Amino acid sequence: MTPDYGKYAKDLGESLKSIAVAPAKVILTGEHFVVYGTTAIVSAVNIYSKATASKRRESIIVTRSGSFECAMPIDNGCCRTLKGGDKALVLLEPISQLAQTGLRKWAGHSTGLNLSIKSDIPVGVGLGSSAAVAVSTIAAIARLFRKRCRLETIRECAFESERLIHKIPSGIDQTISTFGGVIAYQKEKPFRRVTLGRTFPIIIGDSGRKRSTGDIVSGVRALLAERSEMAREVLRSANMISRKALTALRDGNARRLGQLMNQNQELLDRISVSTTELDKMILAAREAGAFGAKLTGAGGGGCMIALASPDRIPAVVEAIREAGGTTFIANIERRGVRSWLVN
Ligand code: PMV
Repeated sequence: MTPDYGKYAKDLGESLKSIAVAPAKVILTGEHFVVYGTTAIVSAVNIYSKATASKRRESIIVTRSGSFECAMPIDNGCCRTLKGGDKALVLLEPISQLAQTGLRKWAGHSTGLNLSIKSDIPVGVGLGSSAAVAVSTIAAIARLFRKRCRLETIRECAFESERLIHKIPSGIDQTISTFGGVIAYQKEKPFRRVTLGRTFPIIIGDSGRKRSTGDIVSGVRALLAERSEMAREVLRSANMISRKALTALRDGNARRLGQLMNQNQELLDRISVSTTELDKMILAAREAGAFGAKLTGAGGGGCMIALASPDRIPAVVEAIREAGGTTFIANIERRGVRSWLVN
């Protein structure tokens, strides 16, 4: 009996599929300032984006995520919705374009592509969702065409797509999602892996307010350009905090890291990227006994993080919840993107 592959069955070139998973991230110290060349410390966490890719005979890319679906011919960048109207286009067009780049790179014009994205990373809240989706997409396409692809190439391709979304990204999100672990990151320099003295859970509180990283980064740029004295001061302090955080991580000293996160939050306040909701959650976490707490990512909404001793974690989680946040307890993910083939 012929199996029912549904609407696109006739286009399936073969049953071989590739799967890639890439992790989310939290920035422990140094977001925003990293855009101007200072060091930031970032950790991959165990929340993932998964991309599944298979070949199509027809020269189009069909991209799906949840109830959204769109199609894009390989030879022109014009994406049209199959399911989910304009919302599907907003969500899936950048991914389809990235897939087109990958396809041209690794398969020429010889084949079309089915791409399916399933991400557990909340979108637009500072956890690097778009980078993880881009990294998993590129890795799945490279694996499908059985290309030996260096991690650096995956990172670079994913970074190109981020540049289209916000003009001056540091590249930190793509780097951590590709390579995993904890790293000290400086724009346009080789990153350094951080060997942890001890691993620790990271409490994440999501304020639920989505925002655009590009808009917030542009706002900070305008502020720093206007107030050059303050800019010099905060950039110097941010760099120092990240250097000290590096030592705390190597020593496995979560208490010290928490204190440095508090200092980092003061700098983020000075550049006006915190919000009333985030401040409330950060204060609640500290009052419940956290070693420290700060926003993570671009701010203006999105998430905060807190560190606490194992016995204080339940109280800190509860305090953040009462202050209005949705909470997760994340672990540091040592591995970056992984991909494999399935028949
Ligand atoms: O909010 P996110 O996950 O997009 O993180 C952005 C981090 C920034 O430092 C604010 C911007 C950047 O490009 O590094």
